[in-house]
Amino acid sequence: MRIDIITIFPQYLEPLSLSVIGKAIERGTVDVNIHDLRDFTHDRHRTVDDTPFGGGPGMVMKPEPWGEALDSVLSERESDGRPTLVLPTPSGQRFDQPTAAGLAATDWLIFACGRYEGIDARVVEHFRDHVDVRELSIGDYVLAGGEAAVLVMAEAAIRLLPGVLGNAESAPDDSFSPSREGAPLEGPIYTKPQVWRGLEVPAVLRSGDHGAVADWRRSQSVQRTSEQRPDLADDDLS
Ligand code: 6GU
Repeated sequence: MRIDIITIFPQYLEPLSLSVIGKAIERGTVDVNIHDLRDFTHDRHRTVDDTPFGGGPGMVMKPEPWGEALDSVLSERESDGRPTLVLPTPSGQRFDQPTAAGLAATDWLIFACGRYEGIDARVVEHFRDHVDVRELSIGDYVLAGGEAAVLVMAEAAIRLLPGVLGNAESAPDDSFSPSREGAPLEGPIYTKPQVWRGLEVPAVLRSGDHGAVADWRRSQSVQRTSEQRPDLADDDLS
């Protein structure tokens, strides 16, 4: 998979070189390319924003640097598939685990990080003819820019690529994975020692009875989901 990220803060994306995602990049499972939007300006101040038509507070990202940056990235196209252009924005569709799986299934993702009040709307209008556009939000709150959201979305997608997680960290049991029907949140987990500060690991987990362990985990998961996220709970299970 190839990922391009266009931003005015390239250093913001440096954490992608760490941990599980950093290893996936080192191994070549994913090819991440970060581009500085200001490299596509032509004035002395490397201007990327201007005042909004129609008035109002804040600044809007100018279309010309975005046009040139996206043309430049798209000129590196090697195959005929359409890339997916992700625009992180609080006014987009909600990003969730199925969205992450959808992004992980694409060959080429381009993230366009907006700042200020957003990007001139003609950029999306123009590039719709060349790419599949997804406007995505990571939750109902407002960030200062798209970079932190791109870290979230890229990590959620990359960890689903084959070979990225070892068996020890495998994804099928994760919260929200499709196999967890009706009880999307994982329950409590334990490791050694068996007793810590007077607190004992539940006996069933040490029983060696795999069926009993599975039943206990399922019931913990149902309980946790109804307590923490009643909006996700399947009322038939509780
Ligand atoms: Cl994707 N971007 C920004 N700027 N704020 C957000 C967001 C994205 N998702 C939630 N809030």
